[in-house]
Amino acid sequence: MRSIYLVGFMGSGKSSVAEALYEKTKKPILDTDQLIVEKYNLTIPEIFAQKGEPVFREYETNILKSTPIEDAIIATGGGIIEKDENRTWLKENGRVIFLQTSWEEISLRLVDDQSRPIWNNQARDKQKLLEDRTPFYLEVADTIVSTNGKKVEDIVKEILADE
Ligand code: S3P
Repeated sequence: MRSIYLVGFMGSGKSSVAEALYEKTKKPILDTDQLIVEKYNLTIPEIFAQKGEPVFREYETNILKSTPIEDAIIATGGGIIEKDENRTWLKENGRVIFLQTSWEEISLRLVDDQSRPIWNNQARDKQKLLEDRTPFYLEVADTIVSTNGKKVEDIVKEILADE
């Protein structure tokens, strides 16, 4: 069966949903950010600070294309859909689930987050970024799951019911 790729903005719950999907399916879970950290031996904030976002995006594309397209669950970074190349690859190879979360809920969930360089960059308008990225998430999605106010178990049920 095609691997499940979870896409969505920072704070949309991709990692938690991936873990809960693992509990139900026992399929291996992977996380593109974690794979980047392991391969390049730098944390995500270090990559942004030392190499810059364009290099991070190159790493992200390399990692995406190295993920198993069968029988795995893959949580992706929120910006993976920015590159045309990644969207094409996702549409061709994955079963893509868009976890759609409102700005209000995202900003509540990430209020104390210090780990995400884009979220913590005061110069960036994150609400506009969410608006700009939403058409890209919709473009790649085979399934759209609204996560607002929902429990992880219910999100997982929706994903598995749609298989
Ligand atoms: C990013 C999201 C992060 C991570 C990096 C860039 C983005 O992943 O890939 O900090 O551009 O939205 P999460 O979506 O898991 O936070």
